[in-house]
Amino acid sequence: MQKKPTYEELEQRVKESEKEAIRRKKAEEALRKNEKRLKALLAELAAKNEELDSIVYRVSHDLKSPIVTIDGFVGALREDFGDVLSEDGEKYLRYISDAARKIELLIKDLLDLSRIDRLTQKKREFPFARLVKDALEALQLQIKARGIVVNIQEDLPVIYGEKRRLARVLDNLLINAIKYIGKENPSPRIDVGVEEQDGQKVFFVRDNGIGIEKKDFDKIFQVFQRLSSAKKQVGEGTGIGLTIVKRIIEHHHGGKIWLVSEPGKGSTFYFTLKKRGLEHGL
Ligand SMILES: Nc1ncnc2c1ncn2[C@@H]1O[C@H](COP(=O)(O)OP(=O)(O)OP(=O)(O)O)[C@@H](O)[C@H]1O
Ligand SMILES: [Mg+2]
Repeated sequence: MQKKPTYEELEQRVKESEKEAIRRKKAEEALRKNEKRLKALLAELAAKNEELDSIVYRVSHDLKSPIVTIDGFVGALREDFGDVLSEDGEKYLRYISDAARKIELLIKDLLDLSRIDRLTQKKREFPFARLVKDALEALQLQIKARGIVVNIQEDLPVIYGEKRRLARVLDNLLINAIKYIGKENPSPRIDVGVEEQDGQKVFFVRDNGIGIEKKDFDKIFQVFQRLSSAKKQVGEGTGIGLTIVKRIIEHHHGGKIWLVSEPGKGSTFYFTLKKRGLEHGL
């Protein structure tokens, strides 16, 4: 049988539970305060992000007109003084034009990056195969010119998402696969398909091109990051393509993107998409 608590013991227990109640109240208050502070910080961050975004947009937009001026005057110089220009003079004009092209490309890409979050489209269901075919059609000339064999898996599923943005994902991945297929690749090949991994549909774009070292896997998704191996390939780039792809997959579709690659063997870029009905909170 249990011993009945004495009066002192009961009093002690009451005191302890009062102390516990005060402790709990204080902890709750501290939590509430932290929550408030966090919310304020998040709001500040969102505002700063928006501001930065609109600066990028404005600056890139405003830089377009000086480029037009540069091009115009390079053209005028050639036209009016072309006969008297020495070989060196003509070479310098070419350097100016090339630099202007580079700035133009950079502006286009920066505008693209800042636009990615602007034009939201309603999500809907559509066949993944359609997306692949449309993207490949637009890239046909480049694929032919490099003699690349493209293999599209049959029976591709219907997917759920924003068609325009997902077209962009595929476009960027395919352009990379083509661009980095390797100048001396004896049998250039690209595969597009889907496979099941841990009960989830995983889409992929695979190439047998120059490949990427493991240490660079994270780096290539960061803005303006191009590997030295890429700079030796034909075709230019700003290092924005994969930043856009990652943003679309993760931020706009709640999916994941990663790669498996080995230098000299090729790369496979994988991505997942959230199923319809599971995309809340995006
Ligand atoms: N399929 C690939 N094979 C090998 N390297 C790749 C592949 N895709 C991307 N890379 C590497 O990752 C870098 C970043 O790719 P990303 O698409 O972001 O930029 P980019 O292709 O250089 O320029 P752009 O802004 O025109 O897309 C590339 O410069 C290249 O070094
Ligand atoms: Mg690219």
